[in-house]
Parts: sequence; C-alpha cells; structure tokens
Amino acid sequence: MKRKEFLKLSGAGVGAILIPAAVINVISSGCNKNSGMGNMGGMSGSSVNINEGDFLQALLIPATVGANGALTPQATTASLKGSQAYNVFGYQPGSVLGPTFRISKGADVNINVLNNLGESSNVHWHGLHIPASMDGYPTNLINGGASFNYNFTIRQRAGLNWYHPHSHMATARQVYKGLAGLFIVNDTEEAALNLPAGEYEIPLVIQDKRLADTSLSYNPTMMEVMSGYLGDSILVNGKTSPFHEIKSQMYRLRILNGSNARIYNLAFSNNQSFTIIGNDGGLLKKPVSVNDILIAPGERLDILADFSAFIAGDEIFLNSKLFSGAGNAQGKQGFKILKFKITQKTNTAFNIPSVLSSFVSLTAAQASRTRNFDISNAGAMMQSGMHRINNKVFDTNRIDESVAANAIEIWQFDNSLGEEPHPMHIHSIGFQVLQRTGGRNRLTASENGWKDTVLVMPGEIVKVIIPFENNTGKFVFHCHNLEHEDDGMMLQYQLS
Ligand code: C2O
Ligand code: CU
Ligand code: CU
Repeated sequence: MKRKEFLKLSGAGVGAILIPAAVINVISSGCNKNSGMGNMGGMSGSSVNINEGDFLQALLIPATVGANGALTPQATTASLKGSQAYNVFGYQPGSVLGPTFRISKGADVNINVLNNLGESSNVHWHGLHIPASMDGYPTNLINGGASFNYNFTIRQRAGLNWYHPHSHMATARQVYKGLAGLFIVNDTEEAALNLPAGEYEIPLVIQDKRLADTSLSYNPTMMEVMSGYLGDSILVNGKTSPFHEIKSQMYRLRILNGSNARIYNLAFSNNQSFTIIGNDGGLLKKPVSVNDILIAPGERLDILADFSAFIAGDEIFLNSKLFSGAGNAQGKQGFKILKFKITQKTNTAFNIPSVLSSFVSLTAAQASRTRNFDISNAGAMMQSGMHRINNKVFDTNRIDESVAANAIEIWQFDNSLGEEPHPMHIHSIGFQVLQRTGGRNRLTASENGWKDTVLVMPGEIVKVIIPFENNTGKFVFHCHNLEHEDDGMMLQYQLS
C-alpha cells in the first residue's frame, strides 16, 4: 500500500487495517521525531548501490528525425542488459526511449502521437516555450487507443530539450518504464561556432533502473517516495554499462539526466577537465572548464571533451563521483557510467571558441516582485502527499500563482529546512539563476545561462529570475524528482 493511501485511511479513522510492522515503525519514529513540526530527521531515505556491469554492449544512438514525426507509445520488450528481454514502454517497438528530434529555430513542428500503451498518457516537451494546449498538462491526456497531434512553432534559441509523459500521478512510472526522448533545437548563432557534429556530437540520456526485475515493475514504498525511486543499474541511451568507440579528438557530449530521482556528479576516470558550453537553455556566454559537475533529474549539459591526448587502444570512463550535501540517499557512491574506447589516433584539432553566445543577463532590480516557495516539506510528514510546495499538493482546479504576461519576476525556492534535494522545474519559460544561499552557497559552473530546472539541495535557498513571455495560459511547475512530483510536489501558474 502506498503511504499516501495509508495515511488517508488512518486519518479517516480506519483502525483495523493490516500494516506491516516495519511500516508502522518507520512512520511512528518519523512522527515522534517530527512532533515539533521541525525537520524530518532520518526520513530522507537510503541510498541504492549501483551494480556497474561489464561495459561490453555498444552504446546505441537514437535515430534522428525532423519536424514531422510520429510517436507510438506502447508496451514492448527491449534488451536493456545483454540479450535479456525486459518489459518496457517505448515510443516505438523494441526499445525504450524515442527518436531524437532535431529541429531548426523557426520551424513548424507536427508530431502525431498514437497512444498504444493501454492506459492514458501525453507528451510534455520539456524546455520548449509552446502553447499551454501543447504542453502536456497533467490532465490533458490521450486515452489508450487515441491519438493527438502536437503542433507548434519553435521560437527559441538552440538547445537540448527533451520529451516525456506528464500524466497525472503516473509520470514517474511511465518515464521509468522507458518513455523519454531528446529534442534538439538548432539556430544560426550555434551553427556559426562549427562545434563538433555528426559522429562527434553524442547524445547521452543517463538513467537508472532496477534491472534485477525484468518486468521493470514500479511500485515505490513510502521510503522510496521520500528518496526517489533509485535504480541499481545505470543505463545510457537505454543500455546498461555500454561502451562507445571514438577517435582521439574533441567530442561534443549532449547529456540529459533522464532519471526519476538520481543525481550524478559527472567526471572522467582520469579526472581530466572538460568544458561546459551549455545547459538546459542552450549555449553559455563563455565556456567553463571543470573537473566534475552535478546534473540533477531534468537538467541537461552540453560539454566538450578533449580526447586528443589518447592513442588507439586507450580507454576512459565517464563516471559519477561521490558528492555530499544531498541528504541520506544520494552521492554516497562513485560508479562508472560509460566506457569510451579510443580506436584511432587523429590530428583534427578543435579550438574552443572563447565566446559562445550572447544574451542579456538579468539583474534583481529588473524584477517587479519576488514569490517565495517553501520546498522544505518540514512538517508535511503526517499529511497525505508528503511532498508539497508552500504546504500545498497539486490541484488541477486551483491556480496557485497569477502572473502578468511579460512580467519579470524572482522566484525563490526555499529548502533551508529540508533534508532532500529538489530539482525545481518551471514549464514554458527559461530563467536565469540569480543566487544560491546556504548549502553550496554559489552558482555552479553550469548555472550561468538559461535554465528551466535548478537543483536546490537541503539547506539551500535559490533565487531565479524569470522573464515571462506572452505565451498566456496555465502551466505547472514542480520538483523533477518524479516520485516527489507524482506525490503532489507541483503547483501551477496562470499567465495572463
Ligand atoms: Cu520534465 Cu513538468 O517536466
Ligand atoms: Cu517541463
Ligand atoms: Cu523533490
């Protein structure tokens, strides 16, 4: 039984239901600790260790398609690990994930989605600034057997976006079972840089799943709703522990963290530096060299990795390193994600441009108001929907924030009393991160640009500045830990 259901029942005075003793212990100890409505001592879940695998299967690169596409969400089977067949959801038969859309700014997009899942679903185009009717609102669903035509015009700058279901209280399960894909927007500013392309531009969708269970069943316990449903195996583009053959030169890696809840601290196994050139909302102004970078669920990274020092026969891994400050469940283990095998020495040099793109950096003085969102969830323990924003759970019939078209506002996400990391995502717009206080106390190397998802660690308050456009309508914003989202950690704003 889900904790939420249990709490509803017990709150309604049903005393005689049978509950496993362990669950009672956890709930009562949490409640005792929480009796002062303070923090949730020890309730942020426990980590799930990664089984690294053998790095013997080749990385799969999803097919690339243009502006007129079709997706057919369906239950199918896919070999996620060796030849073992798993029962998954795919946007086509035989594999998880879907094709990568590659579309130029200005193009009209027309994608027909025929829902063969046998349950309702929809598609949200994460990162795209498109009309509310096309945004995959949680109750705007395509019934099983029905189809819907998503059409919209791309009016935004180049960047790596993605798509996934956004079905009310079923997003986490549908994504976990395999539904997600990339959506790349190109423009002339980006094209002028002549960044590594073709085989030298590699899309990487990083996800974790529990591969001991070939049916990929999804049924989180209440503790797993707290921590998020963490997997025991890392998949890249739908295959666990893959390898990829490369040449000794510069590569552009376009990375999505498509996991339900797991945060990665990306680094190379030899600790060589790499260059961040972009994030959720496209290119940064200037490249930044780092040795590691965090990426939370929903976030994207555009990096240049220089493999020119290697010779044929060398190997290097993309890893996730240990990290701290993310509560009890995350960052406790380092592990390998993907093996690069250098097969050929080349002499193709690539000089990283010193200026990548230009856009206006917004300042706090430009904002007409600040809205505060308490995401600590302190004291929410004993209520239905453990994860809340401003002590509210998602309600499709309630407008939480009314925003004027074209307003510039600061939204502040306050996790200062919280014990869990929350990657906060806002639909339909891009924002700039202004400030982080508490916790890491600074912006990270990937946060100086346009973002749509920002990681707020326990103890942190993060301010973002949002130039709302005139794309009026009703849009959601939420935690992109998908267990938290489905648990109710989502509100909505009306732009008018
Ligand atoms: Cu990728 Cu509302 O989410
Ligand atoms: Cu989104
Ligand atoms: Cu969260």
